[in-house]
Amino acid sequence: MNKFAAKAVKVLGALGLGLALAGVVQAAVNEEEIIKRIEPVGNVCVEGDETCGSAAAAPAAAAAGGRTGESIYNGKCAACHGSGVLGAPKFGTNEMAQRLEEKGMETLLSHAINGFNAMPPKGTCADCSDDEIKATIEYMLEGS
Ligand code: HEC
Repeated sequence: MNKFAAKAVKVLGALGLGLALAGVVQAAVNEEEIIKRIEPVGNVCVEGDETCGSAAAAPAAAAAGGRTGESIYNGKCAACHGSGVLGAPKFGTNEMAQRLEEKGMETLLSHAINGFNAMPPKGTCADCSDDEIKATIEYMLEGS
């Protein structure tokens, strides 16, 4: 080995050691970063599990069957009762209240459920329960 070659080996050796050290330090840093990176982003939690906190509370208000008299009226009855089509007791007037006075709720309800002249059975809300029809009539009366 000549002088130049010996020097080259030393330099390369030092360089190698330096690189190796840098590699060790880098590895240590990387490990922390990797652990951070692989931490779960969110936690899966089962409803009712206390560790989940309030974020897991289900929106209870949106329960099934939550149709109101108002929403049924707007969706099914307003087409006729909004403007008094075919003599339908008009919403926002006392026409429905007058009928209540004359006939009573039982008759109004049975006419609404079974149909009455131009008033179609269940007011076209075929999947409405009797209770829902009643709630809708009550909403219409409130609007009287
Ligand atoms: C296609 C039009 C139409 C729709 C839709 C409709 N109605 Fe009527 N409704 C009428 C008409 C017309 C009358 C008046 C019938 C009569 O007195 O001869 C009436 C009358 C009524 C009466 C009074 C019945 C009585 O004995 O005097 C009630 C209560 C009623 N409707 C409830 C409802 C409800 C609740 C809905 C929606 C779920 C609804 N209607 C949807 C046309 C409609």
